[in-house]
Amino acid sequence: NSPVPSTPKLLGFSPVAKSLADVVSIPAGYTASVLFALGDPISASVPAYKNDGTDGDFEQRAGDHHDGMEWFGLSANGSRDDNATERGLLAMNHEATTDEKLSSFFLHANGGTSTLPRPAAEVDKETAIHGVAVIEVAKTAGKWSYLPGSAKNFRLTALTPIDISGPARGSSQLVTKFSPTGTKTRGTLNNCGTGKTPWGTFLTGEENWFGYFTRGAADDAARGNDKSVTSLKRYGRTQGAASRHGWETGGTDDKYQRWNNSKLGTSVDGSDDYRNEMNGMGYIVEINPYNKAAAAKKRTALGRFAHESAAFGKVVVGQPLSVYMGDDSRGEYIYKFVSTVLWSAADANAADPMAVGDKYLDSGKLYVAKFNADGTGTWVELSLTNAAIAGYATYKFADAADIAINTRLAADAVGATKMDRPEWNAVNPANGEIYFTLTNNSNRSVNPSGSQYLPDAANPRAYTDMKGSSAQTGNPNGHLVRMKEGTSVNTFNWDVYLFGAESTADATLVNLSALTADQDFSSPDGLAFSKSSGICWIQTDDGAYTDVSNCMMLAAVPGSVGDGGKKTLSYTKADGSKLDIVTPVGKAATADTLKRFLVGPKGCEITGLAETPDGKAIFVNIQHPGEATKMSDVADPTKYQSQWPANAGYGAGKRPRSATIVITKNDGGMIGT
Ligand code: FEO
Ligand code: CA
Ligand code: CA
Ligand code: CA
Repeated sequence: NSPVPSTPKLLGFSPVAKSLADVVSIPAGYTASVLFALGDPISASVPAYKNDGTDGDFEQRAGDHHDGMEWFGLSANGSRDDNATERGLLAMNHEATTDEKLSSFFLHANGGTSTLPRPAAEVDKETAIHGVAVIEVAKTAGKWSYLPGSAKNFRLTALTPIDISGPARGSSQLVTKFSPTGTKTRGTLNNCGTGKTPWGTFLTGEENWFGYFTRGAADDAARGNDKSVTSLKRYGRTQGAASRHGWETGGTDDKYQRWNNSKLGTSVDGSDDYRNEMNGMGYIVEINPYNKAAAAKKRTALGRFAHESAAFGKVVVGQPLSVYMGDDSRGEYIYKFVSTVLWSAADANAADPMAVGDKYLDSGKLYVAKFNADGTGTWVELSLTNAAIAGYATYKFADAADIAINTRLAADAVGATKMDRPEWNAVNPANGEIYFTLTNNSNRSVNPSGSQYLPDAANPRAYTDMKGSSAQTGNPNGHLVRMKEGTSVNTFNWDVYLFGAESTADATLVNLSALTADQDFSSPDGLAFSKSSGICWIQTDDGAYTDVSNCMMLAAVPGSVGDGGKKTLSYTKADGSKLDIVTPVGKAATADTLKRFLVGPKGCEITGLAETPDGKAIFVNIQHPGEATKMSDVADPTKYQSQWPANAGYGAGKRPRSATIVITKNDGGMIGT
């Protein structure tokens, strides 16, 4: 049942065993090399990374916590070439940084300052290692490397000016001292999942941006308890909330003050402070990787939430474009944007790709998913034409800009289905079905109290995982759902494709996909389909299974929605009553359909996957190796949780570094065969 009939046998490799070793493990017959690690220079004028806490110039170096990543081909003369296989650009996210007590301690010689105020020099490094990198890579004499001196390399950081585009452009909710017209903001932040447009630009999702802002302890009253308070609370900022790094204490310059989201000024419109600053984060941002001079744009029509990837549905000439997106927080939603303009093939290679983005991504309809118990689903349009939104008592929506900025509240109003943390999504090129990882959710319970809620057909599991490093409840291992669009823009069918579980776990409630030791996993997160082999790559970011194995990547050959029939999950509630949940599922996994391909070093997450168009090289990110290292141990390498990639022979110093690796097959074949 290979989705691409002409390819060699898929999953022909030997499975990689689960491992706690501080190495990247891959199958026999493959080679993995480190390509681009935290601190590596992207300009010829910047010295090599010393990795001892004394380095500077981070605007011209690799950022931290490499995450989602896309490939953009280059011809021999350096122009865009979608068919190129040996020279290209990698555009990648630098999501966050390894930190403890405010400080990104591996960046600072002594571990940095763990109390407020933070020194300006430390803040400047930390804001610079967030954002996006675009780097040139090439295969020379059979070996891949990145080009540190390429003029095509560039970075966006947490302070780079970015245009606001789409319905929220010019909104009063985006007016700041930096942009009194509400048309610009600074920085892109906590960039997690990615996407690639049919016109050759890069999309990056802003995920947990709210944690970087602080709010004063009496800010609700300062705002007159207006609707902005409702918005701030819905997006995770109660008054008095501290910021993750204390960047607002770096000095009096606006580049520090902008992290204080309190109402401080006396203006009515917010043009004398940064009370609206957080509204400038939380979008899908479009970047032209081929032109570092082109301003990036926040595509507000795609909604504001904790964005992960943005995957395009099947691209058909004369039809609108669809973009699928998830909101990664417990109980958040799955979304779809549908363009107003119908796709024209001439736009695939336009001279000004950002103008093509204006055309397709600034105007359209945004929908949120409702999953029905019978395997059908509804896409509900988020607009003021919906009475549930126009008449929502919790929040009075003013206009389309208000919905673009407060998307979560609009989705609440229509009763969308609360999901178990939607991480990445990806579209199967063979049949257009849409796959979402639902990484885990501690709020799912058969005896809900407080902020918890019952399992439902699309999020059917709630149990206690007693085998993890600590007992975790809810849906600790996560699952993947997939969706098949219906005959109208408003309908779909769905099933649960795979359930994460330990192979030895109970088969009636936990190991429902019959995973064996060669394929068991927990907390699926990164997700990408190969356009060459058709393989679905599943990457993990796991809290429940890291006592057994470091995070991993699996290769899957999926079937299609509904191919496994239905399963019934039977629960007994605390009061003795029964709760039976019937859910449509995919086929049980076999050695031909799911196999572990890679296990990462200690403390890392595996995330991001890009491939050359021939499928013979894949690029994968190893995010935050050694994450559990203590700040107090920064001077003692023997106490680091990980010394990767230094222990793989890469670079100076022993401090662990997030890095991109490249994987090739020794016989020159396609990856995953
Ligand atoms: Fe950045 Fe939801 O992972
Ligand atoms: Ca993720
Ligand atoms: Ca994650
Ligand atoms: Ca992470």
